[in-house]
Amino acid sequence: MLKKSNYYDQEHFDFEKEKIFSQNWVFGCIQDEVKNNNDFVTIDVAGKPIVIQNFKGIIKAFLNVCSHRFNKIQTTDFGKRPLTCGYHCWSFNQDGVPFFVPKKETFNGLVDADGAPDSAFNLTEFRTETCGNFVFINLSNSSDVTLEQHLGNHYNKLIDISQFIGNKIHFGKIEHKANWKILIENVLECYHCSVVHKDSLFGKLGVGSMPISEIEYSDSHSSCHFPKIQRKSDEKKRKILAFLDERSFKHDSFYHIFIFPNLVISSTEGASFYVGQLCPVSASETELRVRFFEPNIDYTEVNQGIRDILADESVKLGYEILEEDRAILENIQKGVQFTDSVGIVSEEEIRIKYFFEKYLKTINN
Ligand code: FES
Ligand SMILES: [Fe+2]
Repeated sequence: MLKKSNYYDQEHFDFEKEKIFSQNWVFGCIQDEVKNNNDFVTIDVAGKPIVIQNFKGIIKAFLNVCSHRFNKIQTTDFGKRPLTCGYHCWSFNQDGVPFFVPKKETFNGLVDADGAPDSAFNLTEFRTETCGNFVFINLSNSSDVTLEQHLGNHYNKLIDISQFIGNKIHFGKIEHKANWKILIENVLECYHCSVVHKDSLFGKLGVGSMPISEIEYSDSHSSCHFPKIQRKSDEKKRKILAFLDERSFKHDSFYHIFIFPNLVISSTEGASFYVGQLCPVSASETELRVRFFEPNIDYTEVNQGIRDILADESVKLGYEILEEDRAILENIQKGVQFTDSVGIVSEEEIRIKYFFEKYLKTINN
């Protein structure tokens, strides 16, 4: 188990920002979100505002702070516009160079003798790499660890699952008054599912009473299946959703992947997908960015009404589960500093142990 203060001490949180979120590959966005020229996504990593943007097919990541007088350049979570600051219209190219500056001649020291902008005014650039449909960024320019090395045998797992994930049907942000590690620990086990999700994940999908299975881990990342029990309603559901039989990824379980430090992916029987992105805000606050996806199948013959109902239902159930967890996680945050118990994890919670091991290794490195 970790030291209790690791969950609430702000100084320790600042240390984590430096050691974990500034020196590792972290999940940035879904590739489809930056598929076309000028598409962008903004996120905060280690407290820094970052923009991931497509420049004519090339995906780049920059500090989202204008080098003129420090305005935020892209101001929405997603969008499609050039990398142009909304204050005085400085425009930046794929190298972060301000290639368009209104009234450029009025600046002293902005350009060199050849008229090229001084590189001091280039935006700070960060490394990006893509695996399947997942775009990662790395704030450290000193580390030479590639994304493939970072992901280990989960590299291929992300490529595999990407081909089964279809259209995004929902994006949202849920504020948690809890430390980011409490959120991670929660999703690494389903020991709580038949209790906390009695009427949702367990009640509706039958997930939570069977032992965890097929655990795989590579360094810091892990994946597993939480098998489901068959419910009476399953057969009826299967008939209504017969078109889902076409999907090529099927499993009688809730399949879960955790990519250290901030990405969780789950598949419910291959019929719906969830991607959670943890954005730590402070020692006791985490923004959870949630994305829901439908499976990647041929929908040409599928009734749009049924497709819409399925999408609505999976988002609704997803939120029900997330809100049930959030209530618990916020209570943990309130209580953790007062207990004398060292805490303990079971075999069912073994992935938490892997997470702690990697976490401590990274922190103490
Ligand atoms: S602050 Fe961005 S153009 Fe002035
Ligand atoms: Fe849960």
